[in-house]
Amino acid sequence: MLGRLNHVAIAVPDIAAAAEIYRSTFVMGAKVSEAVPQPDHGVTTVFVELENTKIELLEPLGDKSPIANFLKKNPSGGIHHVCYEVEDILAARDQMLAKGATITGTGEPKIGAHGKPVIFMHPKDFNGTLIELEQV
Ligand code: CO
Repeated sequence: MLGRLNHVAIAVPDIAAAAEIYRSTFVMGAKVSEAVPQPDHGVTTVFVELENTKIELLEPLGDKSPIANFLKKNPSGGIHHVCYEVEDILAARDQMLAKGATITGTGEPKIGAHGKPVIFMHPKDFNGTLIELEQV
C-alpha cells in the first residue's frame, strides 16, 4: 500500500543557486537545509521542507552520478523522481515484482539520503516517472 508523498526530487545543475531560489529568490523564507554530499549515491542533496512534504534538490557528485545522464538531457534541471512512503519495503517490493514491475539496480533496498531503506521502480512502469519507495 502506498503511503504519503515523502518528497519530489529535482535534478539541478547548480545546487547553491537552486537552494537560493527556494531560500529567498522566488520562495521567500522556505526552510532550506545545507548541501550534503552523499558519495554513496553520487549526488549532493538539499532538502526544502514544506508543511506537507519536501523538495529534494539533487546535484551530480563524482564521475558516475546516476543523475548525470538526466542532466545531459535536461541541462537546466527537471523533476527527477517522486518518493512515496511504504511501511514495509520488502513486502512492497515483492508485491510489485509479482505484478511485473521492474526495480532498478540489484533490487535490494539501499539506505537512502534520509538514512532509511529505499528502492527505485523503473519509469517504464509508471508513465515515465521514476518512483522511489522509502520505508518509514
Ligand atoms: Co529521493
